[in-house]
Amino acid sequence: MSSNIDVLLNAYSETALYRTPKKAVSLIRFGVIGYGYWGPNVVRNLQSLPGAEIVCVCDQNLDSRKRFHKAHPNVYVTADAKEVLSSPEIDAVAIVTPVWTHFELAKTALENDKHVFVEKPFTSNVAQAEQLITLAERKNLKIMVDHTFLFTGAVKKIKQLLQEGGLGKLYYYDSTRVNLGLFQHDINVVWDLAPHDLAIMDYLIERRPEALVATGQRHLNGFEDVAFITLYFPDNIIAHVNVNWLSPVKVRTTLIGGEKKMVVWNDLEADEKVKVYDRGVEITNREGLYELLVNYRSGDMWAPQLEQVEALRQELSAFVDCITNDRTPMNDGSAGLQVVKILEAVNKSLRKRGGLVYL
Ligand SMILES: NC(=O)c1ccc[n+]([C@@H]2O[C@H](COP(=O)([O-])OP(=O)(O)OC[C@H]3O[C@@H](n4cnc5c(N)ncnc54)[C@H](O)[C@@H]3O)[C@@H](O)[C@H]2O)c1
Repeated sequence: MSSNIDVLLNAYSETALYRTPKKAVSLIRFGVIGYGYWGPNVVRNLQSLPGAEIVCVCDQNLDSRKRFHKAHPNVYVTADAKEVLSSPEIDAVAIVTPVWTHFELAKTALENDKHVFVEKPFTSNVAQAEQLITLAERKNLKIMVDHTFLFTGAVKKIKQLLQEGGLGKLYYYDSTRVNLGLFQHDINVVWDLAPHDLAIMDYLIERRPEALVATGQRHLNGFEDVAFITLYFPDNIIAHVNVNWLSPVKVRTTLIGGEKKMVVWNDLEADEKVKVYDRGVEITNREGLYELLVNYRSGDMWAPQLEQVEALRQELSAFVDCITNDRTPMNDGSAGLQVVKILEAVNKSLRKRGGLVYL
């Protein structure tokens, strides 16, 4: 039986979706599915973007709909995703629901000629990701996978340092991404937290890993809640990612070591998130001497100025731009697929208690 709020919201809904004014030129009309933890951030940013308009928000959960309705009384809200996915008033759908729902929702959206902004990780497996990419290509629709960190000032600065050769030859990427919870009910800690690092690495390193080893353990709800992943890249680059839902403290620290300089990125710092150290090791083997000469270089540290922007806003703005100007997002379906490929391989390695899996 419908509750009062449902009656209220549905009564409102019957007319509102079709009262949406005719589309202005270059205004992308969005439907957002999922208004749990992350959905409100997507909604808030879309609402403030000049080229976007939210026509409808959908959540199966009554409390979420109430919360949305209280904050945005003039925007249509529904419990039924089909309404969003089939509405002729909607150009693009933002899917902000748990990963196991991404494929069906994105597929239906694409089949109904909607562009898709979908949360990380893109899909639950490689086959689903490939199917969505093919469908989007066939229909000339855009897919953007929410790899939010690519749009942060920190990642942009580190990318610039790498591109300018400031760090020299890259040696390693080492990330610690741990906190207490939030336990997910459908995925392990790797699928929850590691997509951030995998997407960042794909963007920064510009080479694909050749193999990986993953170890982890399940303690509470049947999914790994602590995991360690090692990825082997070409050119002797190695990466390590430590993800953990059972850490007493939150840590978001990444070390990136290069031949010339090294970066410490602490994402929890309010200022000076990125520090560049002019430190390193030089090894020489002088002629006639059989011993290696090891010199440690310990120079200055500097904290570069970072762009102060909300990454999600930049990302959604880029998505609107890609739709409007027919451009391919840098975090498109293929970028999402690459992350899912690695996540699948991680699960394989976890099952083998750290067996080497080639990619
Ligand atoms: N980019 C980031 O930094 C970031 C941060 C957090 C979460 N996420 C991603 O966002 C997604 C959602 O995570 P969350 O933490 O917000 O989850 P959540 O459980 O808090 O919220 C999901 C919401 O979706 C609703 N929902 C689920 N299936 C639905 C359906 N078929 N139709 C309508 N509503 C439905 C649920 O009722 C719930 O309110 C996940 O893929 C997660 O990985 C991304």
